Amino acid sequence: MATASPNLAVMIAAARKAGRRLVRDFGEVENLQVSRKGPGDFVSNADRKAEETLREELMRARPAYGWLGEETGEAAGTDGLNRWIVDPLDGTTNFLHGLPHWAISIALERKGELTAGVIFDPVKDEIFVAEKGGGAYLNDRRLRVSGRRDMSEMLFATGVPFMGSANLPRTLTDLAHLMPRCAGVRRLGSASLDLAYVAAGRYDGFWERGINAWDMAAGVLIVREAGGIVRDIDADDADPLETGAVMAANAEVADSLQALLRRG
Ligand code: IPD
Repeated sequence: MATASPNLAVMIAAARKAGRRLVRDFGEVENLQVSRKGPGDFVSNADRKAEETLREELMRARPAYGWLGEETGEAAGTDGLNRWIVDPLDGTTNFLHGLPHWAISIALERKGELTAGVIFDPVKDEIFVAEKGGGAYLNDRRLRVSGRRDMSEMLFATGVPFMGSANLPRTLTDLAHLMPRCAGVRRLGSASLDLAYVAAGRYDGFWERGINAWDMAAGVLIVREAGGIVRDIDADDADPLETGAVMAANAEVADSLQALLRRG
């Protein structure tokens, strides 16, 4: 990619540092699967330690910025302008079960607008990055969303809510509308990677209801910088980071995907 800004360089370095540690912990998880108790506490601890590493690195470099992290919540910055939005381990359930599909997601927001995003999958050594106006990249290769036009050839991704979530019936309805019309729907368990894969043209679209700002912030920017459309599913003027109902797609299919998802 063209040269990273100082902020993006800080984000990439922080993600790589936390990633090295998580990869070591992921190796341990495989050993713990056989124990009766399972690796639950160990993974919660790994998640917390990863956020600590990211917070140390990012806040040391930019002490005046605000913070929103999955594990440690929100803290206002002294500059009143910039904020880090961080998910130290997106795909926690995969990690817990020894499935190698999880990522670190870091976004930077300035005056409420996303300006930089990094999604790092250390197991596959794939780092997806974008800066506003500068395009999106995967390991230095420029990204473009897919060019498919025909829904019957398209592959979509979603997240299916678990354990009593109020969004489950709605998601099943979405699936009933979409599955007969497309080439397939995947549910791989990491919303940040789902978005990164839309940016990379691996998926033609993604939607999920009830997710958090830290799961999607970096991915939203990366998809937009790869030429894709990101919207709130239900309301034209709403910000998906606030409502948690996000859809992302190539421009060819965005309207028809949205119409299907709004059918209810
Ligand atoms: C989860 C993953 C999953 C999505 C859930 C998220 P976490 O994030 O992104 O794909 O379906 O809604 O909560 O808890 O692993 O950081």
